[in-house]
Amino acid sequence: MSSVAPFKPAANFAKKAHINTQAEYQKLYESSINEPENFWAEMAEELHWFKKWDKVVEYDFRKGEIKWFIGGKLNVSYNCLDRHVLAGNGNKTALLWEGNDPAESKSYSYSELLSEVQKCANVLKSNGIKKGDRVCIYMQMIPELAIAMLACTRIGAVHSIVFGAFSSDSLRDRINDSACKMLITQDSGVRGVKQDIPMKVNADTAAAECPSIEKILTVRRTGLEVNMKSGRDIYWHEEMDAADAECPVEEMDAEDPLYILYTSGSTGKPKGVLHTTGGYLVYTSLTHKYVFDYHEGDIYWCTADIGWVTGHSYIVYGPLANRAITMMYEGVPNYPDYGRFWKIVEKHKVNILYTAPTAIRALMKEGTSWPEKYDLSSLQLLGTVGEPIKEADWTWYNEVIGKKRCPIVDTWWQTETGGILITPLPGVTATKPGSATIPFFGVLPVILDEQGNELEGAAQGYLAIKAAWPSLMRTVYGDHDRFIQTYFARFPGYYFTGDGARRDEDGYYWITGRVDDVLNISGHRIGTAEVEGAIGRTDGVAEAAVVGFPHDIKGQGIYAFVTMMTGVDADDTTITAIENTVRKLIGPHAKPDKIQFTPALPKTRSGKIMRRILRKIAEGNVDQLGDISTLADPGVVTNLVDQRQ
Ligand code: PRX
Repeated sequence: MSSVAPFKPAANFAKKAHINTQAEYQKLYESSINEPENFWAEMAEELHWFKKWDKVVEYDFRKGEIKWFIGGKLNVSYNCLDRHVLAGNGNKTALLWEGNDPAESKSYSYSELLSEVQKCANVLKSNGIKKGDRVCIYMQMIPELAIAMLACTRIGAVHSIVFGAFSSDSLRDRINDSACKMLITQDSGVRGVKQDIPMKVNADTAAAECPSIEKILTVRRTGLEVNMKSGRDIYWHEEMDAADAECPVEEMDAEDPLYILYTSGSTGKPKGVLHTTGGYLVYTSLTHKYVFDYHEGDIYWCTADIGWVTGHSYIVYGPLANRAITMMYEGVPNYPDYGRFWKIVEKHKVNILYTAPTAIRALMKEGTSWPEKYDLSSLQLLGTVGEPIKEADWTWYNEVIGKKRCPIVDTWWQTETGGILITPLPGVTATKPGSATIPFFGVLPVILDEQGNELEGAAQGYLAIKAAWPSLMRTVYGDHDRFIQTYFARFPGYYFTGDGARRDEDGYYWITGRVDDVLNISGHRIGTAEVEGAIGRTDGVAEAAVVGFPHDIKGQGIYAFVTMMTGVDADDTTITAIENTVRKLIGPHAKPDKIQFTPALPKTRSGKIMRRILRKIAEGNVDQLGDISTLADPGVVTNLVDQRQ
């Protein structure tokens, strides 16, 4: 726990904040919990509805049934674009785009974005996409990505975005899981020093094994010559040039699917998290407004990739629904040098910066001289997401970047939750470094013990949520039973987050990390089972067990214990082979940081791998192995400890 006194919001900041007294927060929070129907009906009025809902909410966690704004009709693209243009704000800036190359940037007004989105929606339609069809988007951070998403929502198609670093195998599995009809990609991508990420090549490789794909729509980003298969492949610029500039919106039911986003769980196959339309947009826009204290004209920059949920909710949907100026960056924090983030802040006069602790750590390690070169005086608010932030990193962010003027919102949430659940409100909440602090409106967190009893007051245990909020996922695509088993079975009547947490005497929440076999590598969620499965497919490998260990920059690193088949010796080429298999089957971000070969893994007599022991060895806590008497062969441990990497 932090030893420092809580940080109160600076008076200047609090003065202009949407919510700036504890009494106001308390009143709204209590009404959101005690009268959720009234509270959420009032909040939902902020959006445009073609038809109002008949009932605000109905849910049953035991059956995994969750419905919000039942009977309501709306359209996401209408709310994010048309509504603002019709209100006379068409020439206000919607999207700012900063290229990987510092000389490249672009901006789109709301009218311009609307016009691109309408054209793109017509391109989708003329290529056979209808309401309910799934469209896979596999791109880098270019404006066409946001345009494609909004175009899907305009006609009621369901997008499934696959992060641009995933391999063609991962892309293939995700396309097949939801039977996408179209794949949208780009010729190749630029990101940091990488100038030719083979997006279309990967798309082609994947599509060769995806029977549902009828069309591949390719944006020309780099001009790289790519293979265009006749009858299947079409170029974005050619189609857009020919497309009609007007496309009416589809009136969607509040519970119609909006998108699928795959995320890793504790078992092998990634889950297709399904979000729906009304509740998701109400919740992401409301959180964006209050958590980032967004005011008209503020330049807001979330550095996430749209391939992850943070980009969906807080680069595209939440901000655009609020008519914000939202920025999208194609590159990485250290390209062309470690000053890039700060150069962007200065260039675009960024007011609100939302990033991940892993980026903060990577930049902090390069010293203060980089941020000192740039004018950061435009910054008013800082945010973090994705993993717990350590006190030293929080302090650097606060002092060197925020100059002690900017509140820091440490936001806890998940792909499944759709939006931020635990967070400070920047004009009110006194922050404690490392704590995500208090629940947002409508969120009822509880700490449970092993038996599922709710713990009162200061306590530590499993973090669960007791009531539904509007942006909670609705199902695992194509596998509702898995949805129930994963989130509602362990503690009946609650949504179980998979995280552990502690609540302190002030009611603040401190996330202690995952309690399942999910790793958090540089803020990317990776299941140990997925990595084990990939390593196991390397020639000569008999078995693998993967655990996390503390890593200075990534937060957690991947430590793999590998057993070779009898008679096969491991050497440096085996390591390269394992790395290549992981890269091919998952992507470069899942490559193990350490590989230890071992003649055997520690197993119980019933054959279960004792990960607890492996975790301790990987962490270097070899004196805390605990009871090893239940192992089939306790001798295995001595060897594991001796050979530790
Ligand atoms: O363990 C928690 C961690 O990230 C997990 C969710 O990962 P993902 O679905 O990829 O979404 C990341 C971005 C929303 C959580 O179960 N996590 C996320 N935010 C925080 C966090 N851990 C501590 N503090 C946070 N602020």
